[in-house]
Amino acid sequence: MRAALAEAKKGLGRTSPNPAVGAVLVIGDRIVARGHHREAGRAHAEVECLRNFDAPVPRHATLYVTLEPCSTEGRTAPCTNAIIRAGAKSVVVGARDVNPRHSGRGIIQLRNAGITVQEGVLADECTQLNETFNKWILTGLPFVIAKCGMSLDGRLTRPDGEPRWITGRDARHDAHRLRARVDAVLVGAETVRADNPRLTIRGVRGARQPWRVVMTRSGRMPRRAHLFSDKFAGRTLIYRRKPLAAVLKDLGKRGITNVLIEGGGEVLGQALDSRLIDKLQIYLGPIVTGGPVIAFSGQGAAKTAEARATLSISGSGKLFASRAIQRLCRTNRRGSFRAIVLFNDWEVKQ
Ligand SMILES: NC(=O)c1ccc[n+]([C@@H]2O[C@H](COP(=O)([O-])OP(=O)(O)OC[C@H]3O[C@@H](n4cnc5c(N)ncnc54)[C@H](OP(=O)(O)O)[C@@H]3O)[C@@H](O)[C@H]2O)c1
Ligand SMILES: [Zn+2]
Repeated sequence: MRAALAEAKKGLGRTSPNPAVGAVLVIGDRIVARGHHREAGRAHAEVECLRNFDAPVPRHATLYVTLEPCSTEGRTAPCTNAIIRAGAKSVVVGARDVNPRHSGRGIIQLRNAGITVQEGVLADECTQLNETFNKWILTGLPFVIAKCGMSLDGRLTRPDGEPRWITGRDARHDAHRLRARVDAVLVGAETVRADNPRLTIRGVRGARQPWRVVMTRSGRMPRRAHLFSDKFAGRTLIYRRKPLAAVLKDLGKRGITNVLIEGGGEVLGQALDSRLIDKLQIYLGPIVTGGPVIAFSGQGAAKTAEARATLSISGSGKLFASRAIQRLCRTNRRGSFRAIVLFNDWEVKQ
């Protein structure tokens, strides 16, 4: 199943609005074929794996698949039929389909066809892999990741006239990898006016350009900004005078399963106050800048009990965090979303 998970991860960020799924076919101790779902409309992982094997499946072979095979006609024919037709007699499933309309049906169909099905192998990891898809399929709302690079004193900007980076190269590369896994990136209009960001993906092979979403009340937007004039201009959406929750709802309707909110402070503050964040990714630069733009400039929590807590921490690049801070973050398990803080070395761009 680990090998099937590794296959599934190859599709992360490319399969939307479908989940990322991987499969391997095993005979004895050997993996004889692999497959993953590449993008919506193309073959599902199990079918690709069986196709790659390209021979009748022997009785003693086992098919491992990270997600319960689909049992209904979608853009492609049901995978349960393909598995039965191929002659597989043993299937191991990682996670059940969370969609209440399908959950468990694929497994029943396979069992009814005389196939031995074992389920729940590495179930947590297989479910976690599609945490964003699962939220969208259950609620219609995209999974929201809020991301920012901030100084130790919680500021998003360096002093005026200096290069805008607060974090180092590792953090920026990691942020591009994160972008490569989402369907949309969202920013406030002030970020567009101040930074003229591209919100494209650099340095990640084969990545798909996510939608770029801008929120504005005034509609004041520089026409020549990269977002409206580069080759991905057709993938930029502007929402005017819509609350963040309504924007997310609309994005969900468009089949956008996850959104990365990249700032600035006002939009991040609203997201936090409205409890719309599922996961927080903070890149912390080891500097104290002061300055006007606070990372989460919303209302804040009225009581500590209402604060949202930091649950996990991981290092990237040169680790800056002291063990004490790491311990503190690990043990603070009260909140309802997970936060990942990547401490990063700071580089001054000359
Ligand atoms: N370090 C980082 O990770 C990072 C990331 C992003 C940005 N930044 C920095 O942050 C600064 C910008 O942050 P900021 O807090 O000043 O502004 P911001 O959050 O980027 O944008 C604020 C603007 O977004 C629009 N807006 C906000 N809420 C809205 C709503 N509910 N409905 C419709 N429109 C809404 C309004 O645009 P209108 O004024 O057009 O009405 C508002 O003025 C920049 O200096 C940028 O460099 C840093
Ligand atoms: Zn399928």
